[in-house]
Amino acid sequence: MLVFYGTQCYNSNGKRICAECDLVSCLFARESVFIKGLKSTMKKFRVAVIGCGNISVMHFASIAMTESCELVACCDIKEERARKWAEKYGVVYYTDYNEMFDKEALDAVHLCLPHYIHSKVSIEAMERGINVLCEKPMDVSYEAAELAVKRAEELGVQFGIISQCRYHDSSRFVKERISSGKLGKIISVASSLTWVRHDDYYKSSDWKGTWDKEGGGVIINQAIHTLDLVRWIVDSEAKEISCSMSNRAHPSVEVEDSSEGLITFENGVRYGFWCMNNYGINENIEIRIHCERGEVRLGYNDAYITYSDGTKEEAHNQEEEECCGLGMDYWGIKHVRQIRQYYSALAGCEELEISGREALKTHKMIMDIYDSAGMKSAFLKK
Ligand SMILES: NC(=O)c1ccc[n+]([C@@H]2O[C@H](COP(=O)([O-])OP(=O)(O)OC[C@H]3O[C@@H](n4cnc5c(N)ncnc54)[C@H](O)[C@@H]3O)[C@@H](O)[C@H]2O)c1
Repeated sequence: MLVFYGTQCYNSNGKRICAECDLVSCLFARESVFIKGLKSTMKKFRVAVIGCGNISVMHFASIAMTESCELVACCDIKEERARKWAEKYGVVYYTDYNEMFDKEALDAVHLCLPHYIHSKVSIEAMERGINVLCEKPMDVSYEAAELAVKRAEELGVQFGIISQCRYHDSSRFVKERISSGKLGKIISVASSLTWVRHDDYYKSSDWKGTWDKEGGGVIINQAIHTLDLVRWIVDSEAKEISCSMSNRAHPSVEVEDSSEGLITFENGVRYGFWCMNNYGINENIEIRIHCERGEVRLGYNDAYITYSDGTKEEAHNQEEEECCGLGMDYWGIKHVRQIRQYYSALAGCEELEISGREALKTHKMIMDIYDSAGMKSAFLKK
């Protein structure tokens, strides 16, 4: 069943022209109507990717699928990685991003870097007037992330943070149904994430598995998507957090591979979560939301709602996009949607949906989870 929900298309002046599209056609229409109208008058945004490791494939592909921007360069301190992507897309590559900033007159950079340099590189780009779209998480501390948000606001640049799971059809459907009031108030939420990261995953990286460079393990790197989805759907900020974490099956790394806890949001909703990186496979996540007038089950690709009167609704991710099949299944296929939204905002056609300020709410919750569990501070005190 294809579920439609209210969102809008835009004409070439950025004005709404319809309110009845489903998200897929809406975002495509928004891009194509916008581009058709403005193609002759608008230059494409000049864009570069910094960090050509695992996730960069989704950024390169999404940029290529977004008509309002063009890749002009890429950068990685590991020259062979930068060269590989530069050759694929026919652009120049650098091993020093400052040299790239000097030479390329960039409008925007995509940061696909280790966590501990996200804010530093973001601010360096912003101070040259370059807009930034940074991979999650914002950084390894709250202070560093907040500083980047403040600098973006002072300098008037667009600062976006990737959280692509909000762009899944299933997530958007649940968000809309709950926001509309149809399900009544949320009573409780629970989520589980049972994934696996083998020792090789950590061994192949010089920053993953460390407190100072990754900033944590399963919470900050994997469960962050689930925690962000819940916080966004509950539409409130965390007030109290009580949680525990441990490293149960990864003796070669410092960080947690398991965590569970209870979060109470400002609006009173209670949320219990459980996550682990030491399961046998990467299973679908499960988010259960109990509401006054029904119950929601949300995974990455599907959402099911059962209303108290017995009626049912469901939504499923559309898989027709070219990004499908790139990267890992559990990354989802929606980078392209968020990246298009970012450039639409950069063109002044709409508000940036996941700004640094918006992402900071989830980042604060993540940092408070670490503070509550005490494992990170105990390690850093040693
Ligand atoms: N949104 C998602 O679903 C998703 C999935 C995977 C990773 N990520 C995020 O993407 C980011 C990168 O993760 P990854 O798995 O691709 O890591 P990675 O280690 O594979 O890639 C990082 C790259 O950055 C390069 N690098 C490091 N310092 C640099 C510098 N100063 N200048 C230029 N390049 C530099 C490294 O050489 C490496 O190639 C992280 O923030 C991670 O959490 C997001």
